[in-house]
Amino acid sequence: MTNIILCGGSGTRLWPISRTLMPKQFVKLFSHNKKIKSLFQLTVQRNSKICDSQFIVSNTEQYFLALDQLEELSKTNNKYLLEPIGRNTAPAIALACMQLDKDEIVLVTPSDHLIKNEIEYEKVLLKAKELAEDNNLVTFGITPTFPETGFGYIESQNEFDVKAFHEKPDLNTATSYLKAGNYYWNSGMFMFKAGVFLNELKKYSPNIYETSLNALNNANKENDLTRIKHTDMINIPEDSIDYAVMEKSSIVKVIPSNINWSDVGSFDALYEELPWSETESCSEAKVKDENNNTLNENHISIDSKNNLIYGNDRIIATVDVEDLIVIDTGDALLVSKKGSSQKVKKVVEKLKQQN
Ligand code: GDD
Ligand code: MG
Repeated sequence: MTNIILCGGSGTRLWPISRTLMPKQFVKLFSHNKKIKSLFQLTVQRNSKICDSQFIVSNTEQYFLALDQLEELSKTNNKYLLEPIGRNTAPAIALACMQLDKDEIVLVTPSDHLIKNEIEYEKVLLKAKELAEDNNLVTFGITPTFPETGFGYIESQNEFDVKAFHEKPDLNTATSYLKAGNYYWNSGMFMFKAGVFLNELKKYSPNIYETSLNALNNANKENDLTRIKHTDMINIPEDSIDYAVMEKSSIVKVIPSNINWSDVGSFDALYEELPWSETESCSEAKVKDENNNTLNENHISIDSKNNLIYGNDRIIATVDVEDLIVIDTGDALLVSKKGSSQKVKKVVEKLKQQN
C-alpha cells in the first residue's frame, strides 16, 4: 500500500511558526530536543505500519524539507511529485494515482494532522483496506463536537454506507447536521485503489482528469522524482477531491474513526493537543505546568495561567496574564487572545498586501 502524502498547504493560521518556506507540517513543534518530530514525520511513521512506501506530493520549495525529514526517519522507499503551483487536492491526488498501478491501494493523508490513538487508527486502517479492496472510496469519519464550517460532513446510513457527502456547509446547515446525529466530520484522509479513484474522477470531473494526464505526459521524470511543468499545471482546473469526487460519487463508504484526531488548525487547537506524551514518538514532548501554561524553559511565569507560550532563545516573562497565545520566533512576535487564533490568517493576508 502506498501512502500519498499531501504537503501543499502553508498553514497560515499558525503564523509566525508556520511560514511559506517552513510550513506547519515540517515544523518540529515545541522541540527543544531534536528527537521530537514534525507532523509530517509523525504522519509517515504512523502510516508506515500499514504502507510500504511514501508518495510525497508537494510544491517545489518543500521538496528538500521532505527529503531531509524522511532521511532522518531512514525512509528510502519514496516517490516525489512536485507541483510548480498548487491546484488543490483533486489534481494532486490524480497526478500521484496516475503513476501507480491501477490496483494499488493508496492511503491519502494530509501531512499536518495529529492522531493520538494509534492503536485504534491501525484497526481502522485494516477495516478501510477491506472496503477499498471491494472497489469503494473509503473515508474516515470523526464524531463532530461542534458545527465547524471548515470541514466536510459525511451523512451515514447503516454501518459503513454513505448517503451523501457535504463539503463545508454553512453554520445553520452544520448545526442541523450535529442535531441529526448521523453525520461525521470528514477527516481529510481517504483510501481506495488508484484506478477506482481515477475512474470516478474521469466520470465526474473529466477536465481535471484529462489535463492532469496531459501534464504528466509532458512532465520531467528522473527516477522517483516527477516535476510538472508550469505551463501544464496552470491548465488544470483548481478543485478539491471533496467537491470534485466525494460529493458526486455513489461508491463512498465511511469508517467511524475514534482515533483522537485533530487537524491542528489553529493555536487554540494546538494548545488543546498538548501534551503530546500519549503518542509514543512524542514521549519526550514537554507537558503543561501546574498553571496550565505550556512548559517552556525560557518562560518565566508569575501568576500566569492557561497560556500557550512558544519561543526560541529569548526569555519570555508573563505577569498576571491568562488565556494568551504568545509566539516569538525572533523575527516576529504574535500576541493573541485564546479563542481568537482563527484570525491569525488575517495577519498573513495583511503581510501579503504590504509586500
Ligand atoms: N500537494 C498539494 N497540492 N497538497 C495540497 C494542495 C495542493 O494544491 N492543496 C491542499 N493540499 C494539502 C494540504 O496541505 C492539506 O494537507 C490537505 O491537502 C488538505 O487540504 P486543506 O486545504 O487543508 O483542506 P481543508 O482543511 O480545507 O479540507 C479538507 O480537510 C478537512 C479536514 O481537515 C477536506 O477534506 C474536508 O472535507 C475535511 O473535513
Ligand atoms: Mg486542512
